[in-house]
Amino acid sequence: MRSKYPIHTTLSAEAIKVLERYEKELGAKNVVLEKALLSMDRSHFKSKLDTHGMDNTIKRVCTGVPGLDESLEGGIPKGFAVIVTGPPGTGKTTFCMQFLMEGVRNNEKCIFFSFEEPMEQLVQYFMQFGWDVGKYIDDGYMDIFGMSMLTSEEIIEIIDAYKPDRVVFDSLNVFTAPDEFRTSGGWRALLRLLKSKKVTTLFITEKRHGIETKQFDEYDFLGDGIVFLDSIQTNEIDTTPTPVMAVQKMRATRIDRMHQPFRFTTTGIAKYRISNLPDRVLQERLARRAVEHKST
Ligand SMILES: Nc1ncnc2c1ncn2[C@@H]1O[C@H](COP(=O)(O)OP(=O)(O)O)[C@@H](O)[C@H]1O
Ligand SMILES: [Mg+2]
Repeated sequence: MRSKYPIHTTLSAEAIKVLERYEKELGAKNVVLEKALLSMDRSHFKSKLDTHGMDNTIKRVCTGVPGLDESLEGGIPKGFAVIVTGPPGTGKTTFCMQFLMEGVRNNEKCIFFSFEEPMEQLVQYFMQFGWDVGKYIDDGYMDIFGMSMLTSEEIIEIIDAYKPDRVVFDSLNVFTAPDEFRTSGGWRALLRLLKSKKVTTLFITEKRHGIETKQFDEYDFLGDGIVFLDSIQTNEIDTTPTPVMAVQKMRATRIDRMHQPFRFTTTGIAKYRISNLPDRVLQERLARRAVEHKST
């Protein structure tokens, strides 16, 4: 028969053994030792998992991009860190701000850390989609750090104090090389904080190649999901490139990974409905671009 140790329920089996041995020798309870073991437990022993008390439903966060949430079983799982990547000028910053606007409309707190653009420029650009970012800043639901020179430690302090629901980093490439970034202590601590506070985060990264090239950088491995934005020519006569988006990875979610065209509207970006897809043309064009890419 199993014996119960109500006071020890949050300790791992290994830690309980240590505690019992010492308490037997002392002949009394030792709260100080128990507390020390508890904190050690988190870093040394396997933590005890209460599967009965676990909420097994995945909460999803709407992206605010019409057409995208439907293909993500309702949205990005809450607390995920998603990489939004692609070549320059493909809509990454717009996509991410739209994600924050969806948040503030639901009374969620949002922070945008931009390392490359001043706040005024961003606010002015977002106004063209009817997004009154300034109002949400005044109301205390949004904060934008433009041309940020913040260190990862300072960002941790801000997140700790502000307790946001959604955060965007634009972009990670201004820091170090991707491989150094992934292993850097400061950024790992920041990622840990974001995870523990269940902050849904979008990390923008820059790609020097288009969607047809199967090539991943270290940032891609760091994310729970990857959304790739690009623009490609879909028509022989009209050479205007069509913006496309592909969800290349999303943990805990069924995805189709196909490139879907999207467009810039007066209220932000919107995915075309799947039934309207010039899909065959799109796939052919991408295949051709991949061949062209190899031969250059
Ligand atoms: N209303 C619009 N109609 C068409 N294209 C737009 C519109 N607004 C922005 N864009 C395009 O979006 C791009 C900039 O978006 P942005 O989100 O800053 O891209 P990124 O962050 O990937 O560099 C520009 O290249 C521009 O062509
Ligand atoms: Mg940008």
